[in-house]
Amino acid sequence: MALSCGSSITTPKPSLRPAHRRVFAIHAADPSKTPSKVSLNPGRWSIDTWQSKPVIQLPEYPNKDELAAVLKTIESFPPIVFAGEARHLEEKLADAAVGRAFLLQGGDCAESFKEFNANNIRDTFRVLLQMGVVLMFGGQVPVIKVGRMAGQFAKPRSDSFEEKDGVKLPSYRGDNINGDSFDKKSRIPDPHRMIRAYTQSAATLNLLRAFATGGYAAMQRVTQWNLDFTEHSEQGDRYKELAHRVDEALGFMAAAGLTIDHPIMTTTDFWTSHECLLLPYEQALTREDSTSGLYYDCSAHFLWVGERTRQLDGAHIEFLRGVANPLGIKVSDKMDPKELVKLIEILNPQNKAGRITIITRMGAENMRVKLPHLIRAVRGAGLIVTWVSDPMHGNTMKAPCGLKTRSFDKILAEVRAFFDVHDQEGSHPGGVHLEMTGQNVTECIGGSRTVTFDDLGSRYHTHCDPRLNASQSLELAFIVAERLRRRRIAAWSLNKKYYQTVPLSLGL
Ligand code: PEP
Ligand code: CO
Repeated sequence: MALSCGSSITTPKPSLRPAHRRVFAIHAADPSKTPSKVSLNPGRWSIDTWQSKPVIQLPEYPNKDELAAVLKTIESFPPIVFAGEARHLEEKLADAAVGRAFLLQGGDCAESFKEFNANNIRDTFRVLLQMGVVLMFGGQVPVIKVGRMAGQFAKPRSDSFEEKDGVKLPSYRGDNINGDSFDKKSRIPDPHRMIRAYTQSAATLNLLRAFATGGYAAMQRVTQWNLDFTEHSEQGDRYKELAHRVDEALGFMAAAGLTIDHPIMTTTDFWTSHECLLLPYEQALTREDSTSGLYYDCSAHFLWVGERTRQLDGAHIEFLRGVANPLGIKVSDKMDPKELVKLIEILNPQNKAGRITIITRMGAENMRVKLPHLIRAVRGAGLIVTWVSDPMHGNTMKAPCGLKTRSFDKILAEVRAFFDVHDQEGSHPGGVHLEMTGQNVTECIGGSRTVTFDDLGSRYHTHCDPRLNASQSLELAFIVAERLRRRRIAAWSLNKKYYQTVPLSLGL
């Protein structure tokens, strides 16, 4: 992880500096406004202008003084990430927008205080490294590794209340807000949980930085990342075979005199991301970057707005339009193409490549019908975005035992639909966004080491949505890699044909 590009950061000064150094006219908030009437000149931004907009999915803290004191403490804490790192990620995402890189974004649906330990962090990181090698081998493009890690705590909820045996309690909203035990006290939002989430995020990132730059991620160790699969397993064996090919290539490079102990080979870039949901926390970690004069939300490198909070005139979009981090927008089948265009224009008025990643999550069938219209609308408006598939959130179902699960086949079908549509539209499939873990959990059904409905109860550890386990993650990576390889070969033969015909047509 590039610590060297860190810029100095100053503490926030509310209501002073406009975002992106642009001065806008003041535009009063109007909660009754419908999305189609939203102005594309939404007014002056400061880190607290979101507070005057309609807001949903935020907790109601019972003690406001306690909340204010906690936020003041977090404002005084150091940033978790640096602005320069976020800019570096934005440049990489700009490459993914045009097919010159591929995003691999993955991790827990919700990180938790209970599951916080070094082994869990290492195991998820290790599977992401393995998947990165598989994808890089297939696509022969750099793989941008971004964790849903080191800050992915807050969860939007479809229902504000949960009912069990006739008892109704407020829903669990993530460990940084309330507790998941089904009792009244646990469900009360506690602002001190934000401090614990901050320290867990900082400690997680500290370990990730150590793994990324301290030798663990060195390409020479490619064969050693397979520990989880020491016993015979199809995915483990496939990975082992590929790792040996990489190892041989490294041996060849070394024999030819190419340095394989260059930092490019011995370290990796790794970035963090989470849903930008709990706005008071996000504001408290937003800092003005003294080198660029821009504001960065220093809680993570990449932030996304969720499907439930992306209203054009809502508080979450207001906050995000003013921070300079690369941003994701979750998009379901409910998104209207014109609305998507407006949203992108609000968040990226300068149409900067890498700034906006569209994360589609709608199930395979919807994808085939809706995605072409979204792609055409965005292209028609001349907007540059990075298209990414989240094949998880459009495929959640209830198992007969009552647990939430997802079918590996349906996840795969959505990824295939995503690639098919981009092939058909001539656009670039820029990456995948997954809920996954390095643990051998039984939360999603299917995969080559089949998990059945009956297995779900045995290792179901998620605090929110079901995740792919290590074997399922790797299996998916091999399938995506094959699609990337096919695209590469198709592009290559197209180029070859072109270069063969050009001289002829010029009469040479
Ligand atoms: C999530 O990514 O965990 C999530 C809640 O996604 P979405 O907003 O797409 O439903
Ligand atoms: Co989720």
